[in-house]
Amino acid sequence: MTVAVLVPAAGRGERLGPGAPKALRELAGETLLVHAVRGLRGAPSVGPIVVAAPPSEVGQVEQLLAAYDVTVVRGGPERQDSVRLALAVLGPDVDLVLVHDAARALTPPAVVEAVVAALRAGADAVVPVLPVTDTVKRVDGDRVRVTVDRSDLRVAQTPQGFRREVLAAAHAQAGPAATDDAALVERLGLTVDTVPGSEEAFKVTRPFDLLMAEAVLRGRD
Ligand code: C5P
Repeated sequence: MTVAVLVPAAGRGERLGPGAPKALRELAGETLLVHAVRGLRGAPSVGPIVVAAPPSEVGQVEQLLAAYDVTVVRGGPERQDSVRLALAVLGPDVDLVLVHDAARALTPPAVVEAVVAALRAGADAVVPVLPVTDTVKRVDGDRVRVTVDRSDLRVAQTPQGFRREVLAAAHAQAGPAATDDAALVERLGLTVDTVPGSEEAFKVTRPFDLLMAEAVLRGRD
């Protein structure tokens, strides 16, 4: 079965502060996007990779990724649009599709392989997750309403994996924007399975996350 990966990388990264689009920020001398794609190429199951780049940086992204055999498309205004635009260029031979945030630049290849293995075992949709370690409060403004039982809460990561027709149906339906692809599949009433995620698959969102990413890379050296 051919496994493709779509990499939404078109976000501005405003929570990181002023500067280049997030996927093009540097971490230890290379962009987050190059780190992310290199990690994907380290996973033996991965075939075609399609990157949704910021519309104004398509040429630069093609150059950056010239060594990694990827297709680059223009991203859209929302993450969901970027995924849909990348999905649209997949060849007919692709059976399984993973969607992986460029911002999860240090995701270990073992997580990618675990997602693919669950799909090969028959799952329609698979999400890597971690338990919630903090106590979680639901609030109303700055007042606590209730403490949420965290025992059945999980934090969702990427890559999220799907049978191709499931992801296509999920993105074809109308509805409000979702923050991940699995949420669109849930709306179809289909089952989404989980596999263990990794702390190293965290999403680089705020300046502190870049410090943490540097520490992870130093630890790997
Ligand atoms: O904004 P957030 O951190 O949730 O973005 C997750 C991923 O989606 C990032 O890799 C970002 O580049 C990507 N994205 C995109 N197109 C957008 C917005 C976000 O590809 N319009």
